[in-house]
Amino acid sequence: MNQHLMNTYAPLPLAFERGKGAWLWDTKGKRYLDAISGLGVCALGHAHPEVTRVIAEQAGKLIHTANLARIPWQEKLADALAEITGMDRVFVANSGTEAIECALKITRIIGHQRGFSSPGVIVMENSFHGRSLAALSATGNRKVQAGFEPLVGGFLRVPFANSDAVAKIAETSNEVVAVLVEPIQGEAGIQVPENGYLEALRALCDEQGWLLIFDEIQSGLCRTGRWYAHQHEPVQPDILTTAKALANGVPIGACVARGAAADAFSPGRHGSTFGGNPLASRTACTVLDIMTSQNLNAHVAETGDIMFAAFRSRLQDHPYVEDIRGRGLMIGIEMNQDVNPLKHAALEQGLLLNITRNNIIRLLPPLIIDEAQAEQIVDTVCKLIEELD
Ligand SMILES: Cc1ncc(COP(=O)(O)O)c(C=O)c1O
Repeated sequence: MNQHLMNTYAPLPLAFERGKGAWLWDTKGKRYLDAISGLGVCALGHAHPEVTRVIAEQAGKLIHTANLARIPWQEKLADALAEITGMDRVFVANSGTEAIECALKITRIIGHQRGFSSPGVIVMENSFHGRSLAALSATGNRKVQAGFEPLVGGFLRVPFANSDAVAKIAETSNEVVAVLVEPIQGEAGIQVPENGYLEALRALCDEQGWLLIFDEIQSGLCRTGRWYAHQHEPVQPDILTTAKALANGVPIGACVARGAAADAFSPGRHGSTFGGNPLASRTACTVLDIMTSQNLNAHVAETGDIMFAAFRSRLQDHPYVEDIRGRGLMIGIEMNQDVNPLKHAALEQGLLLNITRNNIIRLLPPLIIDEAQAEQIVDTVCKLIEELD
């Protein structure tokens, strides 16, 4: 590793030089099929011609002005996100973590408006919301938190996918403002709750006057075959966080809200120097347009079905495979052993994949993969698993 970089990552022993669609080439010229999309970001694949054209054109015109003046592309992006989500207002930030920070700040404002001295947010075990102090405090993973105490207070933690546990808190805590949940937990290894869980949370929030916040940073933007994963159920959150694929790799995040949550801020209460600049906002508008015009949701649903069927038929009875789960192109294969070495074996086979929690193979391929590429991912992963001894 470079001695001048802080010691935060453990990168694979290679670097990529260029990409095209679902393919990546390393600095030695070797080609890889990308089954992780830079952690769920490059949904439209690498070097998408229209995205590239728009970035170059906008960079040649105007990259940044700060929010000192109106930014028409940011306004267009807000309109587009409001339409997709059926919500009211958007704050544009630069990352998923910042979108979460915005959501949490809204809960504090609303809690104080209600006269709470210590407004609380119910969060889930095994969740992941980012690495700022507030986001890591909301995160349900001790590894992410350890060493960063004192954590930000106000979080009440319950098991994921268990609405009874959330209901129990209503009996004992009277300063709760919100429930924060990933509709599908990503970093936890693609954990999909049973149908009805999100609806049960919605009903509970309505009954208690709590805000429901969906962290769709990983599960959103067509990843599961819907614009947002919660749209598989008839529920709507009060706040939604989105990032990753929004500008296909140009850093961006957004917090989308409706009702009282949408009106919580007034000028000076929140902001960002870079947030929503013309470059990132226009790129995001282009990404949303492409996702719409290509009917990407239908493609993801269809390709996901093909991949799940193939994985299940080949791996169902494998002694090391515990579970195959997910939705659309958000796929987790849980193994009953540490499979970290598989990452390196996959690279030798020209496939880039990700392992989370040491024993879960996580696949988040670009959403534009074709059938042959989907088959190649399935075939390579199955062979790697079949070759484990
Ligand atoms: C569900 C979820 N929330 C928040 C984050 C943090 O996003 P970022 O890394 O863009 O700050 C992530 C990143 O993986 C995520 O998956």
